[in-house]
Amino acid sequence: MSERGSDFYDQEANFEKYMERRQWQENANDTLEKPVMLELIGDVAGKSILDLGCGDARFGAELLDSDHRGAKYTGIEGSKNMVRTAQETVRGMNAQIEHAFMEDWTYPANQYDLAISRLAIHYIEDTDTLFRSIYSALKDNGRFVFSVEHPVITSTLQPSGTRTNWIVDQYFVEGYREQQWLGGSVKKMHRSIESYYMALQKAGFHVEHLRESTPQRQYFVNEETYLRRQRIPLFLFLSARK
Ligand SMILES: C[S@@+](CC[C@H](N)C(=O)[O-])C[C@H]1O[C@@H](n2cnc3c(N)ncnc32)[C@H](O)[C@@H]1O
Repeated sequence: MSERGSDFYDQEANFEKYMERRQWQENANDTLEKPVMLELIGDVAGKSILDLGCGDARFGAELLDSDHRGAKYTGIEGSKNMVRTAQETVRGMNAQIEHAFMEDWTYPANQYDLAISRLAIHYIEDTDTLFRSIYSALKDNGRFVFSVEHPVITSTLQPSGTRTNWIVDQYFVEGYREQQWLGGSVKKMHRSIESYYMALQKAGFHVEHLRESTPQRQYFVNEETYLRRQRIPLFLFLSARK
């Protein structure tokens, strides 16, 4: 079993399957997760952006493409495979990718207008320390926007596959859960919604938005997928301000 979240992506078979799945039409990241992230992030013109667990940095490249006023992007990523791919993705752009674990990275003080993280913080055990580091790395009024797997999912991780119903159990018992995912084994940290919320407040943030990936019809080609996605929440989002 992998020790850090990014170890999973350094096993070739897992990496290939993950990248292949992201290409699927109607994958949950594109239909449910990305639209809410974009909405919460808003305009990035001229902003200095920090992306934790940036993966292949395609999102970073898209954000930079959408701006012509000099936005800057720094991606922090723990997996070698992802770092290699990310460096290719942002080649020639106003961007840098660093190979580091987000819990260990040295966060420069008062540097960023916007910190983001998509589906990576559910790998981290100590969010109190991480959120404090992110807080200090933001400029005054800077914002932190992130998504994680929804706590009803992480409470009782079951093998991945099409979900028809879902058991929620041990919800208030926080800690790592092991999941068989894409043919590999991965550990994800479960914590409750209020615990994410309170960790932000403890770090000094003002929490501004909480979202849960309500399906929006325009992002789905098939009615059937849209209806199925109304059953079980997959993602949680929080946005907060320094
Ligand atoms: C589900 S992927 C999402 C990638 C990207 N944010 C996206 O949405 O396309 C999770 C990413 O977080 C990275 N990751 C997991 N734990 C990490 C850690 N402790 N520090 C840095 N990156 C980490 C993984 O290597 C992987 O690339």
